[in-house]
Amino acid sequence: MEILGIDIGGSGVKGALVDTEKGELITDRLRIPTPQPASPKAVIGVVKEIVDHFDYQGPLGIGFPGVVMDGVTKTAANVDNGWINYPAARNIALTTNCEVVIRNDADVAGIAEMYHGAGSGIPGVVMIFTLGTGIGSVMFVNGHIVPNLELGHLYLRNMKKDAEYFCADRVRTENDLTWKEWGKRLNIYFQYIEFLFSPNRIIIGGGISKKHKKYLKYLDLQAEVVPAKLRNEAGIVGAAMAALPGVD
Ligand code: BGC
Repeated sequence: MEILGIDIGGSGVKGALVDTEKGELITDRLRIPTPQPASPKAVIGVVKEIVDHFDYQGPLGIGFPGVVMDGVTKTAANVDNGWINYPAARNIALTTNCEVVIRNDADVAGIAEMYHGAGSGIPGVVMIFTLGTGIGSVMFVNGHIVPNLELGHLYLRNMKKDAEYFCADRVRTENDLTWKEWGKRLNIYFQYIEFLFSPNRIIIGGGISKKHKKYLKYLDLQAEVVPAKLRNEAGIVGAAMAALPGVD
């Protein structure tokens, strides 16, 4: 099916038409900077702009950078607090006239990787992390998703802060960290993840996945660590796939 997928991020809102069987974008990606403050009204205005740009009608899949339960956004770490307990699916549907499925951004990126990417056919515990403005996380156990995991907010005791304030990609760029400095931070985080969850495979996604050769070498883990196959497109592809009936 051809479905419009939209990935709402802390810095950009991105959308494209997706061939959900192939797991590929079939149009160029349209990226519009996330309005600041990223209030529901302002961001939904951008979502509408993207829907209009593609002249789209049909099921609309959206990834959102926070916890989402039954179409209601529950948290808002990197967007405006107005999204907390906000009936997002209902209000986006009213604005766009599309049927809307909205889920956590890492959950949908994980769905794309499990169906079409580096998680395809992998049994056991597969964890996918997106490193960007924040850290998104999702876990699949024998192909079944554990949604809304929020491991970017795991508290790193020795660092005295949430993991995403220590080693998200934004922290690397804002603090001018070298790849080695950042890689060592990631190693602290992922060793802790490994201690807690014993994953068989860890998939690293987000925009930074294409530069994996620069930092994956600093990770010393038992789990197999691989870059996301869909790279940064997993967010849009997975958002579209989430709108398919029966996809979990
Ligand atoms: C949010 C997560 C989200 C991640 C990546 C975190 O700050 O709490 O829900 O998946 O950022 O956007």
